Amino acid sequence: MSIATTPSRAFDVEHVLAGLTLEEKASLLSGLDFWTTQPVGRDGVAVPGVMVTDGPHGLRKQAESPDHLGLGNSVPATCFPTAATLGSTWDPALLRRVGEALGRETRANDVAVLLGPGINIKRSPLNGRNFEYLSEDPVIAGKLGAALVAGIQSQGVGTSLKHFAANNQEADRMRVSADVDERTLREIYLAGFEHVVKQAQPWTVMCSYNKINDVYASQNHWLLTEVLRDEWGFEGLVMSDWGAVRDRVAAVAAGLDLEMPASGGRTDADVVTAVREGRLDEAVVDVAARRVLHLVARALPALDSAALDLTGPGTSAGYDADAHHALAREAAAAGTVLLKNDGIPAPLLPLASGDGVAVVGELARTPRYQGAGSSQVNPTRLDDALSALRAATGAEVPFAAGYTVDAPDLAAAAAQEEALRAEAVEVARTAGTVLVFLGLPASYESEGFDREHMDLPGGQIALLEAVAAVNPRIVVVLANGSAVSVAPWQHLAPAVVEGWLGGQAGGSGVVDVLLGAVNPAGRLAETLPLRLVDNPSHGNFPGELGHVRYGEGVLVGYRWYDARQAEVAYPFGHGLSYTTFAYDGVTAEVGDGPDGDPAVRVRATVTNTGERAGAEVVQVYVGDPVAQVLRPERELKAFAKVELAPGESRELTFDLTARDLSYWHPVLRRWVVEGGEFVVSVGASSRDLRGSATVVVDGEDVRLPLEGLSTVAEAMDHPVVGPRVHAMVHGGAVADDMLGMIGDMPLAVVADFGMGGLDRDRLAALLAEANA
Ligand code: BGC
Repeated sequence: MSIATTPSRAFDVEHVLAGLTLEEKASLLSGLDFWTTQPVGRDGVAVPGVMVTDGPHGLRKQAESPDHLGLGNSVPATCFPTAATLGSTWDPALLRRVGEALGRETRANDVAVLLGPGINIKRSPLNGRNFEYLSEDPVIAGKLGAALVAGIQSQGVGTSLKHFAANNQEADRMRVSADVDERTLREIYLAGFEHVVKQAQPWTVMCSYNKINDVYASQNHWLLTEVLRDEWGFEGLVMSDWGAVRDRVAAVAAGLDLEMPASGGRTDADVVTAVREGRLDEAVVDVAARRVLHLVARALPALDSAALDLTGPGTSAGYDADAHHALAREAAAAGTVLLKNDGIPAPLLPLASGDGVAVVGELARTPRYQGAGSSQVNPTRLDDALSALRAATGAEVPFAAGYTVDAPDLAAAAAQEEALRAEAVEVARTAGTVLVFLGLPASYESEGFDREHMDLPGGQIALLEAVAAVNPRIVVVLANGSAVSVAPWQHLAPAVVEGWLGGQAGGSGVVDVLLGAVNPAGRLAETLPLRLVDNPSHGNFPGELGHVRYGEGVLVGYRWYDARQAEVAYPFGHGLSYTTFAYDGVTAEVGDGPDGDPAVRVRATVTNTGERAGAEVVQVYVGDPVAQVLRPERELKAFAKVELAPGESRELTFDLTARDLSYWHPVLRRWVVEGGEFVVSVGASSRDLRGSATVVVDGEDVRLPLEGLSTVAEAMDHPVVGPRVHAMVHGGAVADDMLGMIGDMPLAVVADFGMGGLDRDRLAALLAEANA
């Protein structure tokens, strides 16, 4: 690695900073190459460069000839399940352990910062990079993201929380302006970042490529300084996404400390010139340079002690590749979602010995287990489901490929596809149960571009139809990085299992679920809509002429489908188990939180009413039926995954804070809890609510100052002057048939018309009294 000087244990940031020239400080603010920060080495000064490396679900350390899209030469590392799978675990404790393992590999490879996790919200199923993100919901993204960060950083290495912010598509990602109102940003797109920053203090945050309301994230002072640091208390360093900086001087001023990768010295010179010409305060350069030095100082203890070993799996000093593979398998199984499990007559899953299973689908033999782009890991080994099934059952499981994974729809491949299908039909015909592995080819979803539709390849659907025509006992097992349409074909399969992109042990993990070695407890962290056109971003994705309008506002994901009472294929939070759970005793009680804020304690008792041990994910949703602003029908605010033996019951307690009840007031520009009734629901999914309670919370009487443009209706509602305005209107001053019209009339207009005895002087007095 590119450490120009020997790292020293005694690295005094302030002392080093004081000894640097302006040019040296400016040089710290950009990379040396693709992956390393710039060192400074001369008499009396020794600042080592440190290495940062992708990515969210495994280490992609390019040991030689680094190029940021080149994927072939990264060192072997455990490919943990992608965020799509990890998000579906709903299990922060497990993600903490995955994080610890990621941190161990990072440290063992002498890397200072792992570039992840990615916690952007899945606004549309079409985002080509959804597999790198955890959820459509900020509570899931925040809680699971914080667990990953805490786990990774517990190993003495850093993380880079990305991509900050509103990077919810790949199309035009380096330029597009995400046009989003502030309330939506705060409640949906920033909330997960806020939670991770406050709970886990990532060493670094990576800004996104796109603009937010016309200002590049990399140059956005409001985002990088006012919100991230001043409001949330972020203490680390902000780095750019690779190539996200357009104007380096503006970016430094906005709070972007480190530009990555190298700029060949060009932008360092821009910074020096701007200081010399008085356009940039040197103190601002010092702040950014100090943060880079802090990062180096934080990284040095681990780098000093780590053994650098690139020799490969099983031999890497500092981590046990076998144990990490086992953990990857556990996580893959935990994130597998059992979507449906109908019976002929008994449920098809788990598979029983003697079921006479046959496997169809190339993806069972050639797994698709991660996505393409900067997160692509060179795995230490790779499990495929077919081999895992054969090994676990000891049976010679018949197999037919059924389709080719690449370019399955090309006319040239049509004849070949037909032959493959015919072969699969013969294998399926005599089988007891057929496992049909389907999914998206790599060419369908990747970093760098978006999907065009939500459908599986036509050749795969044709295979399913052909197989179903000869054998009704079908279990479909899916591999895809984000929602696919299931409505066109799922009637052909009594059981459907969503494995997402499960990492290097995804094949064995999903087999653990199919065989019942693991009782499925994965839950959807994103809605599976019936049709793409039902998705809230439809019509506003991916935008046009350089702008994407987030027209659905806060109604993202399930919030939208619930608001429209729209049918979905599978709702947010859904996932079946091989056992059953009963809920009772759902109660909610208002108390006092810290600083006298309102708080709500929710209780629910869950019982495993089936015959197998299993885990249930208990979900708490909150709705605020009456408010000044439109609020979603219900929003996830808390959840817990609980393991229960058959017959076992557990009472769970959830403490909701004022923030859990609040919304971002667009005019007051702060969080408010508007007093009144709140509905708290506890359930097994967003559409399988098992109990609810209503509480009355003594929140704020949110009131805006009365002004000339306030309406008559608003004035009538005012606690001080309201009765007088009321009397004025109803006291005969206004004809009855005018009452409906006048309610929406600004007071200033009423005064100008001289209605109700109001004139400009009287209005001024009225306003002064109201706002006193
Ligand atoms: C991606 C980042 C990644 C970086 C370095 C960028 O293109 O958006 O997520 O960390 O490259 O590979």
